[in-house]
Amino acid sequence: MQLGLVHLHNLLRWVILILLVTAIVKTYIGSKKSNAVLLSADKKIGLFTLISSHITLLIGIYQLLLGRFGILVTELPAGESFMKNRFFRFYWMEHPLLTILSVVCITAAYSQLKKNKPDVQKYAVAFKLYLVALALLLLAIPWPFRADIGRALLPGMH
Ligand code: HEM
Repeated sequence: MQLGLVHLHNLLRWVILILLVTAIVKTYIGSKKSNAVLLSADKKIGLFTLISSHITLLIGIYQLLLGRFGILVTELPAGESFMKNRFFRFYWMEHPLLTILSVVCITAAYSQLKKNKPDVQKYAVAFKLYLVALALLLLAIPWPFRADIGRALLPGMH
């Protein structure tokens, strides 16, 4: 089950990225029309981005605590600090921190879409939040080219 969750966590990254890019394009288009009317399809994309990122977050929290390298089940060599170890610093701190901030932006963007204000303003603020969320995710993902921490682009790939 452990590996299955890592695979799902890996795969959901693509779902989030595709939805996020779509949300960015849609909110950008909406923010450029002064008489824009919030489309229910655009709200749905926001909702699916929210759901997929929250599922990934929950799996991530489980992995961080009890996964293969979980904080609660891993013993670092005596005298070793996780901050001095590139691998653990990334998976225990940098990756969780940046991804959680990204999910906060995705959540805030969706709540903008539900606010009681002109639709063009909802689109404009959501667009900025989605852009920040994407930048944070691109920094947080362990892309294969990243030394020591890089992972496969798809589950089971090497
Ligand atoms: C929501 C956005 C997130 C994305 C897109 C994401 C993406 C990824 C990817 C692509 C991997 C590599 C998986 C593999 O080896 O195949 C990974 C691993 C990992 N992620 Fe995330 N992650 C996210 C959130 C989180 C959060 C919030 C946490 C912790 C609170 C977390 C903790 C971890 C851990 C501990 C691993 C290593 C798992 C292992 O190798 O056993 N992730 N993540």
